[in-house]
Amino acid sequence: MLKQLAEKCRQGKRIVISGGTVVTSCHQEEADVLIEEGKVKAIGRGLSAQADEVIDARFLYVLPGLIDTQVHFRDPGFPEKEDLYSGSRAAAAGGITSFLEMPNTRPPTTDFAAMAEKKARAAQLSLVNYNFYAGATAENLTFLNEVPNIPGIKIFMGSSTGELLVDQDEDLERIFAHGRRLIAVHAEDEELLKKNKASIVSPTIKEHPKIRSVEVALRATQKAVGLAKKYRRRLHILHLSTGDEALYLAREKTSYISVEVTPQHLFFSAPEVYEKLGSYAQMNPPIREKWHRDVLRRALIAGVIDCVATDHAPHTIEEKERGYPHSPSGMPGVETSLAVMLTLMHEGLWSLEQVVRWMAESPAKLFGLKGKGFLFPGYDADIVLVDLKKNKKVENGKLYTRVNWSPYHGLILRGWPILTMVGGHVVFREGEFFEDCRGREIEIEAEWEYA
Ligand code: DOR
Repeated sequence: MLKQLAEKCRQGKRIVISGGTVVTSCHQEEADVLIEEGKVKAIGRGLSAQADEVIDARFLYVLPGLIDTQVHFRDPGFPEKEDLYSGSRAAAAGGITSFLEMPNTRPPTTDFAAMAEKKARAAQLSLVNYNFYAGATAENLTFLNEVPNIPGIKIFMGSSTGELLVDQDEDLERIFAHGRRLIAVHAEDEELLKKNKASIVSPTIKEHPKIRSVEVALRATQKAVGLAKKYRRRLHILHLSTGDEALYLAREKTSYISVEVTPQHLFFSAPEVYEKLGSYAQMNPPIREKWHRDVLRRALIAGVIDCVATDHAPHTIEEKERGYPHSPSGMPGVETSLAVMLTLMHEGLWSLEQVVRWMAESPAKLFGLKGKGFLFPGYDADIVLVDLKKNKKVENGKLYTRVNWSPYHGLILRGWPILTMVGGHVVFREGEFFEDCRGREIEIEAEWEYA
């Protein structure tokens, strides 16, 4: 029946999501959503009469589809961890309808051919909407500035998974000085990181946040902010991990600097997370003590941090079982990010409207994603229906990410996506996927590129 629905939608039939509570960053109200030709046509009462098909959303919340500004879907290169099909499927199950994917694949996305290949693969494989960062090297400035329609340039200022690294000041300076595109930074200082690494003989997982210390993160963030200000360059700081950086950014951030945090940095804290999860909790930058977690939470509420993204970075159980320091850094997150944020909402930390702002509206504005992020007439019908009261235990072996484990294993999270719609097509509904349609490349309309 849903298959028919998707097909009818493609034929231009009218769908109404009926009787749910529509949520924006500013308000909630009970309303119907009329969808035509893949776009939201109208929001209001009593629209069902105009529908060819009705989706009953009573007792559910109707949110704009989430936009994840940082995922690693490992495609091409590491199909044992993930690919654009499995990653996008997991994303759809988590209520994510658009993603921006990172360049540390094999080959890395550092030239025109690699970017074209990724986009071609996504057009075939991705169930949700997509676009890709261009990976910076010391030598590929022409590519970074000329490859068409990308959300931004990714710079690994410190080494993480893969070979990408730009840690020399003159190279960073050149990239910031030339071009207008958004630069997203993995902010860890390579020199200090190496020094810290060398100072610990047989590190255990508990030393991970000491090697990749607060100072390592703060120094790189300060350097990136300095360069952005010097060249008035649009800067996005990925996965903020320390209270120190948040306090610094509260003073120093400008209108052209944006900041992101992950659900795992907002949820977990050290040392407990390392005692419980060992190397499964290993990521870069690391999860830190409660003080950092609490300042990050407050910085998000205060607007110092603009958005929430997963840094979905799957590694296999076998790789993680190698143990620190031989285990790779990163953890999956696309299927649980909304449920984690809603669970924290139920604990009284924030509102549903704020979650919509941080996970849909702000990402669309920050990256200039055309037609995305807002539940509003004229916008794309990328929509997620959420049951705020649904409790579900996260269980390894029952996930859609290819690595099939989660750092939230064994925890009951409250508030889950029930149905995910991409461009008017139902892609996911209560554990079932409808795979007859594909997501689209997201168009970037970034005003700073033309300023
Ligand atoms: O922990 C991480 N894993 N941090 C990153 O920046 C990269 C990621 C990965 O690709 O595995």
